[in-house]
Amino acid sequence: PTGTEDDYFMAVIAADQKIEPRDWMPEKYRKNLIRQIAQHAHSEIIGMQPEGNWISRAPTLKRKAILLAKVQDEAGHGLYLYAAAETLGVDRAELSDMLIDGRQKYSSIFNYPTLTWADVGAIGWLVDGAAIVNQVPLCRASYGPYARAMIRVCKEESFHQRQGYEILHVLSHGTPEQKAMAQDAVDRWWYPSLAMFGPPEGESPNTAQSMAWKVKRFTNDELRQRFVDMCVGQAEILDLTLPDPGLVWNEAEGRHDYTQPDYDELFRVIKGNGPCNRERITHRKAAHEGGQWVRDAAEAYAKKKAKVSA
Ligand code: 3HC
Repeated sequence: PTGTEDDYFMAVIAADQKIEPRDWMPEKYRKNLIRQIAQHAHSEIIGMQPEGNWISRAPTLKRKAILLAKVQDEAGHGLYLYAAAETLGVDRAELSDMLIDGRQKYSSIFNYPTLTWADVGAIGWLVDGAAIVNQVPLCRASYGPYARAMIRVCKEESFHQRQGYEILHVLSHGTPEQKAMAQDAVDRWWYPSLAMFGPPEGESPNTAQSMAWKVKRFTNDELRQRFVDMCVGQAEILDLTLPDPGLVWNEAEGRHDYTQPDYDELFRVIKGNGPCNRERITHRKAAHEGGQWVRDAAEAYAKKKAKVSA
């Protein structure tokens, strides 16, 4: 880069303005964004599977319609995010290949199974709740297309979080069996949701640079703490217990103390050894291959149209 290009880039960041696709940007900034946005897009797409598992078994027609809409929203989020990544000069088809052959990651959280209907509630409340805490600051990310995609995604995530919360509220105020099912789901999803925020300070190699570029606005630990503080009051209203005996209010610090998730487990899951990793990728690969005829047909149609208008 010439001094001027780099100076301009840093001045835009310092002034809290947006970097746009045609602006000059350091190669490392571009690569870091592709990495994060692609992983984020893949998470939305893989994230359709655990909940999709319950569409045919939702307890009422209304619940089924809501869940169907929610899973479709996730597909939409994946598409906005792939589109945002494409503004950085990569191709969606290439990113999909990288997901399927394991060269790119997706969120650890979607490698856990959804065993009961209450899991759909716990995912909405905790997983989408964590996603919102992580993603609201991304609406202020320095890269324009990513930040703008996040605004709509966050609005939809808020609806998702509410629907999960409401499912758990109904269950926890229902029969003793329903309440026990809700509690069991919260017990299983709590720590994986805390781990979603990523490794702690010192084990998070991307944070410092990402914060200097204002892609990330807070550290993984800061967001995790915010999430814990938010959940405590909500759990009280749900009349459910967060499964952490170490969770106590710390008056001096003005926040809750809590037990950290097992980060060895997080790294195992990230490396492909969680309970459902293989199943998720096998399913995605089959869906991708099964959709080949649609891509072929769309391409043939586009070619035909281009010929007609030429
Ligand atoms: N699952 C999988 N990989 C994770 C992870 C997790 N929970 N947390 C961290 N990692 C990976 C990182 O990607 C990085 O790997 P890489 O360098 O090979 O790419 C490595 O572990 C070290 O972590 P860092 O903290 O250094 O990485 P980041 O600075 O990128 O922070 C992040 C991780 C907080 C997840 C950040 O990338 C981020 O904010 N991403 C955007 C949000 C996102 O992807 N959310 C996923 C969930 S989407 C969702 O919940 C959908 C909803 O609709 C249900």
